[in-house]
Amino acid sequence: MEDLSGKVAFVTGGASGIGLALAEGFAGEGAKVVLADIEAGALKKAEDDLLASGADVIGVQCDVADHGSMAAAADRAIEAFGKVHVLCNNAGVAPAGPIDETSPDDWKWCVGVNLMGVVHGIQVLVPRIKEHGEGGHVVNTASVAGLLALPTLGIYTATKYAVVGISETLRGELAPAGIGVSVICPSFVKTRLHEGHRNRPPELGSSPEEPNEFMAQMLATATEPRVIAERVIRGVKRGDFYILPHPDMKVGVEARANEILAAFDLE
Ligand SMILES: NC(=O)c1ccc[n+]([C@@H]2O[C@H](COP(=O)([O-])OP(=O)(O)OC[C@H]3O[C@@H](n4cnc5c(N)ncnc54)[C@H](O)[C@@H]3O)[C@@H](O)[C@H]2O)c1
Repeated sequence: MEDLSGKVAFVTGGASGIGLALAEGFAGEGAKVVLADIEAGALKKAEDDLLASGADVIGVQCDVADHGSMAAAADRAIEAFGKVHVLCNNAGVAPAGPIDETSPDDWKWCVGVNLMGVVHGIQVLVPRIKEHGEGGHVVNTASVAGLLALPTLGIYTATKYAVVGISETLRGELAPAGIGVSVICPSFVKTRLHEGHRNRPPELGSSPEEPNEFMAQMLATATEPRVIAERVIRGVKRGDFYILPHPDMKVGVEARANEILAAFDLE
């Protein structure tokens, strides 16, 4: 999708961090933007700031974990702009803790947002992208935790491996329709991910570590979201599938791949 000008981008988790940077990046390319997020106050501020910068944008409050809520957000986007071309399934949360200490509600929350949120985005918007026939692009935000297992982030890792797998399947499924797919696998980015519990539904209890101090320290000095968004936009225009903005992670991915390959030779 080389020219984003006049296209419509729908960004989940668009009120903060990587999602907000993506929204700003697409707006900078002349795209219209739909910010879809659960956090009302942050969503309103992001919408106002983007409008003030001259962007054509709407904010839609929605819960990606809820299929009906995502379907309503998609309707609202089509109502406002007529079409959607770029779908960024980006909303995510990262409860931490050793797997044996996690609760069923930790899984329900994180799988609901990180995995089912991506599934719902695809279900409600890909048919509408196919319908207009102008082509499009789906960007799924996974993580380097979708390529490498990270200690104390077992639920997160499970969902991000799943997002990489879904993206690999989707790429083949959407190619005939002229719809591209990218999967983003960043390492640490300076966002509010360590405070994800701010949006945890009360009926799903509390996270094992709130806030996650280790992650807070890692994120404080990490890559700016703008840098990730610039890389993503280059990737969307160029049709990159894997978007891997942190080359220092290569050695870990290589070690994992080598271990798997070597295991094929064991009897
Ligand atoms: N920050 C990092 O180091 C990092 C690294 C790799 C991948 N990621 C991924 O990037 C994505 C964006 O996270 P971020 O780091 O910008 O964090 P963030 O907390 O700054 O932004 C996440 C956004 O998702 C929204 N959100 C949460 N639950 C939602 C729900 N149920 N429905 C709709 N919106 C919801 C939040 O309100 C927030 O605006 C996530 O998928 C995360 O896993 C982040």
